[in-house]
Amino acid sequence: MSYENLLLEQLEPGIQLLTINRPQALNALNSATLDELAQAIGRVAADQAARVLLVTGAGGKAFVAGADIGEMKDYTPDQARRFSERGMGVMHALESLPIPVIALVNGYALGGGCELALACDWIVAGDNAVFGQPEVNLGIPPGFGGTQRLRRRVGRARAVELLTTARQVKAEEALRIGLANHVHPATELKARGIEAARTIAGKGPAAVRLAKEAARRGEDLDLANACALETALFALAFAAADQKEGMSAFLEKRPARFTAR
Ligand code: CAA
Repeated sequence: MSYENLLLEQLEPGIQLLTINRPQALNALNSATLDELAQAIGRVAADQAARVLLVTGAGGKAFVAGADIGEMKDYTPDQARRFSERGMGVMHALESLPIPVIALVNGYALGGGCELALACDWIVAGDNAVFGQPEVNLGIPPGFGGTQRLRRRVGRARAVELLTTARQVKAEEALRIGLANHVHPATELKARGIEAARTIAGKGPAAVRLAKEAARRGEDLDLANACALETALFALAFAAADQKEGMSAFLEKRPARFTAR
């Protein structure tokens, strides 16, 4: 299936790269792109062979420079609500994918672009990355989940500062405050993303999904309930062949051959 504003490529077995592809608008998210994103994420969700999704932006200058300002300018409050709900749905679907999702931030990740990166499990930044929530410059607050996911990622004090000053954060600061997990030269970003994806793809697929699920769903529970969730998912792993194989391989001092069962 082909898209107008996206590319979804299978790079290697189990490893897909989703590229937001509107470089003429610095990959800004308009409604059409959000709809395509929802479709592409749905395809990845339905793909039982999927192991890791990498997300990036086309053109080398921007990951995504935000929601599309031209489209939003004349919105009524009702239209704004529907646009926000559409974006929220996409971010939620991305975050809820059962496999790890890594944002490769190659340039500007502003507004909705920062929110898209935050909906990924973690961020690997190019040394040209610039993060920010500049919505207050436009007379609006964020609308695709930035007020909530930025706070969860970097803490409330840092989040409220960035949300209310619109200050931009470069790659090294993003690393320091825990917004990005790693920084690499922009030219190496894709290769380093694939390297990380290969590491994950070599692990027990069911175990990777269960670990992500426990971390993601447990985040909004109190500790006792989150740990109960972990117990339930831990037990579930023992119903799968991969657990027997992983543990047998360790005891027999040989590499594991996982079959995703
Ligand atoms: N929406 C629509 N078009 C955008 C855009 C956006 N968010 N960001 C950039 N573009 C367009 C520009 O209008 C320009 O188009 P034209 O060539 O047709 O004029 C093209 O992309 C290139 O951009 P610039 O000429 O501005 O490039 P620059 O290098 O001078 O500046 C930039 C780069 C600093 C990222 C600047 O483009 C910028 O500030 N963009 C807007 C960032 C922003 O405010 N994002 C938040 C949007 S609101 C939001 O996201 C709300 C939400 O949470 C839902």
